Amino acid sequence: MKEQLQKANLIIFAYPVYTFMAPYQLHRFIELMKEMDIDFSTKFAAQVSTSMHFYDTTAHRFIKENCLDMQFKYAGGLSAKMEDLLEKQGQKEALDFFKKLMFDVKHNIYQQEKVPVTIKKESIYEKSLPIRAKKANKQVTVITNVAADDLNLRNMIDDFVSAMAYEVKVFNVREFAFTGGCISCFRCTIDGTCIYKDGFQEVLRNEICTSDAIVYAYTIENHFTHSSMKCYDDRQFCNGHRPVNRGKCTGYIISGSYSQESNLRVICEARAEVSGMYNAGVATDELDTALSINQLAKSLSYSLDHNIKAPANFYGVGGMKVFRDLIYVMKGFMKEDHRFYKSEGMYDFPQKETKKIAQMYLVGAAMAIPSIQKKIMSNMNEYTIEPYRRLIASAEQRNKDKIE
Ligand SMILES: Cc1cc2nc3c(=O)[nH]c(=O)nc-3n(C[C@H](O)[C@H](O)[C@H](O)COP(=O)(O)O)c2cc1C
Repeated sequence: MKEQLQKANLIIFAYPVYTFMAPYQLHRFIELMKEMDIDFSTKFAAQVSTSMHFYDTTAHRFIKENCLDMQFKYAGGLSAKMEDLLEKQGQKEALDFFKKLMFDVKHNIYQQEKVPVTIKKESIYEKSLPIRAKKANKQVTVITNVAADDLNLRNMIDDFVSAMAYEVKVFNVREFAFTGGCISCFRCTIDGTCIYKDGFQEVLRNEICTSDAIVYAYTIENHFTHSSMKCYDDRQFCNGHRPVNRGKCTGYIISGSYSQESNLRVICEARAEVSGMYNAGVATDELDTALSINQLAKSLSYSLDHNIKAPANFYGVGGMKVFRDLIYVMKGFMKEDHRFYKSEGMYDFPQKETKKIAQMYLVGAAMAIPSIQKKIMSNMNEYTIEPYRRLIASAEQRNKDKIE
């Protein structure tokens, strides 16, 4: 493999997008590439992915940042939808991409950009937080890939465990004997079971997904973390596209220059959003204080105490629309996902909003009459504010009744 890489003038990373990034296998390959003593600075790199366009952006950014780390001349990427190559338009786009890529290589055109650099810290995070008494009715799980010699992250996790108001168990993915990474066989989408018999599915369902909060703890490497975490992420696909942890809490304990890693920040936020979990915060060791760990523990404890929920933002709303449409179209095949989406009322197609659609027709018809249009337009703000005014008035009335 080293010889092939050495010989190449252009290396194309071709992969299916898996859980916001490249598959575990490619993450591992990139780690190995970085360990090889090869000068990539005269070589070009590009990427081609297939996906459902669900966070293909973060996947491409991840590959690009790693190409730039390796000093490649990065010449762009093609993010195709799964079936694009079967369509004339998709074929043309792929051909255009390759022609342009060849042009770029020939004319030495490539993208130059600074990549975030994780600064290796001199000092080690010192444990300092006292052990808090634990309440018994909720369970928190920390998923980590902490390495045996990563004392820094170990201390951060220990402090978090101490400061939490609830029992915390720690699942180290490096200590689990995964038979392999997800290979996209899609068996799980049909009958909900994984082809691997290494027991991960049982641990995930019976020990991790039963927790009230799941916190991820890792040290930044290669703009994410060591690939062992990606193996865990991808194998979670045995739960298909079902946000089985919806309504629970999450959080992150991250060692490294998190504030520099904008793509990683999007991934962390978007994962919480898409899974429908309340993000209690991200604690890092960037300022070298226990404050952020303590703050995360307090924030998460409070969120669990009060069963905090938050509306989804664009990352969550947009992501779930992609999934919803995918599962609806694939319902004959992705039966487990379909059952879940149906029973959880997740098929929230806009054409179901018949009342609102009818109301808008009525408004549209009324607005076609010039005199009504004039009246409505001059009072538009009033019409918009009116329902909120009524809401506040009735809340005030309820308060008044209570006092009396
Ligand atoms: C574990 C796993 C994770 C996936 N994650 C994503 C994802 O984050 N975004 C997306 O658009 N598609 C995702 N997919 C769909 C794959 O991208 C899709 O199956 C692949 O592009 C199809 O390529 P193939 O026919 O070569 O397998 C995922 C599939 C699997 C199995």
